[in-house]
Amino acid sequence: MTPEEILQQVAQEVSVCTRCPLHHSRKNPVPGEGPADADIMLIGEGPGFHENEQGRPFVGASGRFLEQLLASIGLKREDVFIANVVKCRPPGNRDPQPEELAACAPYLDRQIEAINPKVIVTLGRFSMAKFIPNARISRIHGQPHRVEGRLVVPMFHPAAALHQPRWRPLIEEDFARLPELIAAVEKERLAAEPPPEPKQLSLF
Ligand code: URA
Ligand code: SF4
Repeated sequence: MTPEEILQQVAQEVSVCTRCPLHHSRKNPVPGEGPADADIMLIGEGPGFHENEQGRPFVGASGRFLEQLLASIGLKREDVFIANVVKCRPPGNRDPQPEELAACAPYLDRQIEAINPKVIVTLGRFSMAKFIPNARISRIHGQPHRVEGRLVVPMFHPAAALHQPRWRPLIEEDFARLPELIAAVEKERLAAEPPPEPKQLSLF
C-alpha cells in the first residue's frame, strides 16, 4: 500500500471506530489531515468543539494561531500533517484517559509510519508524553529529542500559549527553529542513502 492508501485506510477505520468510550459522544471523528509526504507532523491532544463539528483538526482559535506560527516559517496548513493523540472529542474537552490514549494509539502510529516525517512536533502534554514520558514542557520545549530514530520536538499547546502571554514568544521561537532541524534531518537521510552504483565503463 502507498502512504496515501494507508492514511485513507486509517481515516476509514477511525470513522467507524468503537475501540474506546469516546465514540459515544463524538459527532465527527477527526483522523487528521495533510500530505502523505509531509516533512512536519504536528500532533495535538484531541478534537475540541469546532473540530468535532467539522471533522477536521485545529479549526478553532488554536488552529488560527497554529496557522500564524506556520506562516512565520513560510508554511501553510496544507503543507504539514496535523493529527491528534485521540481522534474523537473528549466530552467537555476533558483530558483523554489512559485507556482512551492506548486504544487510539495504533491509528497515530500507523500515520507516523506512513508519513515518515522529518520532524514530529508535539503540542501539549499528552502528545509529548507519548514520546517523552515524565518530562516538563517548561523545561524541554523546543529541544529536539531522538525517539526511536525520529526527531521529536515538544512545544507548548497553541491554546495554552494563547492564554498564557509569556509562553507566546517561546512557541514562536520554537517554531522558528524548525526549518534548520528539517534541513539537518534531510542531510542525515541523504548521507544514509547507499551511494549510487558505479557506472560500468566499457572502453572497448
Ligand atoms: N486542540 C487540539 O489539541 N487538537 C485539535 O485538533 C484542536 C484543538
Ligand atoms: Fe476509536 Fe480513537 Fe475514537 Fe476512541 S478516540 S473511538 S480509539 S478513534
